[in-house]
Amino acid sequence: MTGTRAKPAPTAPSANAPKTADAPRAPEAAGPAVEAPAPAGAPAAVERGAGGRRRPGTLRAGLIGLGAMGRNHARILSSLEGVEFVGAVDPAGDPHGSLRGLLGAHGVPVLPEVADLLALGVDYAVVACPTGLHEEVGLQLAAHGVCALLEKPLAHTAQAAHRLVRAFEERGLVAGVGHVERFNPALQQLRSRLEAGELGEVFQVVTRRQGPFPHRIADVGVVKDLATHDIDLTSWITGAAYASLSARTVSKSGREHEDMVAVVGSLVDGTMVSHLVNWLSPLKERFTAVTGERGCFVADTLTADLTFHANGAVATEWEALRAFRGVAEGDTVRFAFPKREPLAVEHERFRDAVRAGQAAEGCGIVTIREGLRTVEVSAAVLESARGMSGLAVPHDAADLSGAGGANTGTGMGGTRGPHAGAVLDGGRAGAGGTGGAGREAAATAGTAPALLGPEAGPAPGERGASVRRTAYVAERTA
Ligand SMILES: NC(=O)c1ccc[n+]([C@@H]2O[C@H](COP(=O)([O-])OP(=O)(O)OC[C@H]3O[C@@H](n4cnc5c(N)ncnc54)[C@H](O)[C@@H]3O)[C@@H](O)[C@H]2O)c1
Repeated sequence: MTGTRAKPAPTAPSANAPKTADAPRAPEAAGPAVEAPAPAGAPAAVERGAGGRRRPGTLRAGLIGLGAMGRNHARILSSLEGVEFVGAVDPAGDPHGSLRGLLGAHGVPVLPEVADLLALGVDYAVVACPTGLHEEVGLQLAAHGVCALLEKPLAHTAQAAHRLVRAFEERGLVAGVGHVERFNPALQQLRSRLEAGELGEVFQVVTRRQGPFPHRIADVGVVKDLATHDIDLTSWITGAAYASLSARTVSKSGREHEDMVAVVGSLVDGTMVSHLVNWLSPLKERFTAVTGERGCFVADTLTADLTFHANGAVATEWEALRAFRGVAEGDTVRFAFPKREPLAVEHERFRDAVRAGQAAEGCGIVTIREGLRTVEVSAAVLESARGMSGLAVPHDAADLSGAGGANTGTGMGGTRGPHAGAVLDGGRAGAGGTGGAGREAAATAGTAPALLGPEAGPAPGERGASVRRTAYVAERTA
């Protein structure tokens, strides 16, 4: 996307006059009206609304949604250089009661509807309402010629994301997506080092994003809410799109959507990827490891640390080790670099893109098209998990070893063998797993196969087939 009208040069940060909190602000009467930086195709006089007077060189910005994430956006917007924070929208007011002081000090009214914000006249808005509302709110902004930084994920479905892309692109508006991990200093460092070839060929990207359930609206599951961070960052650091994937999800917390996912896939350049993401762990981690020819980078985006574990280069005289022809442990380096708050950097980049009227890839923001691709990959993750596609693996040690009759319980519900002693041993069969004791009991009685998943695996009497499939898996993975 290119070609919005050239903007006046930025000036010092606007010193907002005190305004009344929680009430719509009257249009500013004083000061010369500066022509708004109307995006191509957007008639500025109409789009900016009645109150669209702008201080010279500043952009007028609004915020939609004052929840857990919106509060952080409010903090950044209220001190962002070259930006006048003119209003916030939340039908619940200030739901956490924590913004009254901040918004009051900056004279930012809290408005009940997006239309009220549009009436104040804004150049851009940050959209931090629940994901299921991104489409409706985004389309409203686009229709009024307002640029938007939409929180991730761009939308709750790929179709909705497509509609948003069309709406903003048709009007030549700058639109970005809040995949804030891209602005984490650890990942920025990692990406630069990969680009510089420090790792050589990249073999694999592994991410883990685990933690407890967030206290907020859960209108989408963990795949769209959290795994979209991993999908976006993986493509971004490697510069390669996803080519294929396979996934499993579970829903353990009684909510409508999945709360745990495991994804295995590959990128178009052959890099192998895996993501473990959930809302079910008391352990909070944000882990990215990239393994390649020369070693392994590990980024921790909670602490913004980046560590490099180099392959060993020291020759050994130890005969037993010399016979080993794999990778050896070398030096470990933890890098020192400046650490700025990722959200502040995200806002600065978006402000600059709106000023420049540029939202092409490489302009420093996560473009709306990149946001769309991520939603599409997340939809593929859910589709794969629904289909439970994959190869069944025999779970009976008799099948694998030919010994027959062994107690082969694996400890994972639904994956034990068909022998009564194995399945019912200690009454623990199925606990905590995906299969459950019922199916295992049926398998024991020979009435149903004990499978990895409800649809997978051979029917009774098909043991030979399952062994053949195992051989196939072994060949493919050798
Ligand atoms: N980038 C990140 O790291 C990150 C982190 C958390 C959340 N998010 C995203 O931010 C968005 C909001 O998440 P959250 O955690 O703040 O949720 P939240 O439930 O805490 O807050 C949502 C807020 O939106 C308000 N709201 C509801 N309908 C609205 C409407 N029509 N107009 C304006 N406001 C409305 C609610 O009253 C609530 O205050 C989601 O899309 C989420 O995925 C991103």
